[in-house]
Amino acid sequence: MRVQDLPTPALVVERSALDRNIDTMAAARPGPLVRPHVKAFKSTVMARHVAERAGHRFFCCATLREMEGMARAGLGDDLLLANETLDQARLRALVARGDARISVAVDSVETVEVAAAAGADVLVDVDVGLPRCGCVPEEAGGLADLARSRGLEVRGVMGYEGHVVGNPDRAGRVAAVAESRELLRRAHSEVGGEVVSVGGTGTYDLHGDDVEVQAGSYLLMDTDYGRLGLPFEQALRVEATVISASPKGWFVVDASLKAFGMDHGNPSVPGFDVFFCSDEHTTVLVPDGASGAPPVGTRLSMLPAHVDPTVAMHEQMAVVDGDEVLELWPVDLRGW
Ligand SMILES: Cc1ncc(COP(=O)(O)O)c(C=O)c1O
Repeated sequence: MRVQDLPTPALVVERSALDRNIDTMAAARPGPLVRPHVKAFKSTVMARHVAERAGHRFFCCATLREMEGMARAGLGDDLLLANETLDQARLRALVARGDARISVAVDSVETVEVAAAAGADVLVDVDVGLPRCGCVPEEAGGLADLARSRGLEVRGVMGYEGHVVGNPDRAGRVAAVAESRELLRRAHSEVGGEVVSVGGTGTYDLHGDDVEVQAGSYLLMDTDYGRLGLPFEQALRVEATVISASPKGWFVVDASLKAFGMDHGNPSVPGFDVFFCSDEHTTVLVPDGASGAPPVGTRLSMLPAHVDPTVAMHEQMAVVDGDEVLELWPVDLRGW
């Protein structure tokens, strides 16, 4: 099959770029120094490929659906739900399967009690500056004590510096990571445990070997992360078709809001200017000096601004080598 035979919009992964991204990260942070975050690609086939190629065998997930799918696929050596859950029944069922090591992030008495009822190991999730989940560092020790009193294994701490990872200014990232690491260090000294789980793609090279990095976007990348000058390539695109062209100077492609996560901005169409996006239509302008609009029927590549929610909108990714479709990988960890 050729790329032009794929119905559009089609999620496409350039295999060589993906593999170079895997190798670049594995060279910098081999084996257990990276815990790839499944939320970025939501595919058990991709997870297995990363594990086999790079030797990262422990994974992070954001949803129970991802945890369940990874366990079912035999990828459960060490799965961390790097997120809070109150779904005791599902967590208990997941642990009871017995085919995966299950750990969950906790930041409250309630989430510790859910982990205790399910029999999951825990990491205490600490607020290191991102206004999202995580207890204040001063509460971390008390939650660890509570978990141990319930018979749970407390594996360590997690502190996701999500407010830092996308900062295009490297010096700013360095300074902010130092601050978040200090908060996490204080919490860890009270919590104990072996695991310190931090960061993401934008901070992967700002941490030492005493932590694991929860990076996911580096595998496929997006234009938002592209601004940081990291050594990872844009491996992901969405193939689209020009379905209309106006003599007034714009043309329309068939991939838009329902094919791209838009929270980091519009997708890009290299060589052209995106005017605006609506449900199934992106209206594109021909810049001054360009040779004109592509004719109706032309296939174009569009680049997502945010990889995770873009992937979550597609049922499969076509893994390609240039024009040739090598494999179709199901995005099988979508949903909840
Ligand atoms: C808890 C957590 N850890 C790590 C990441 C890092 O991912 P990325 O590789 O996109 O920076 C994310 C991304 O949203 C996250 O939510």
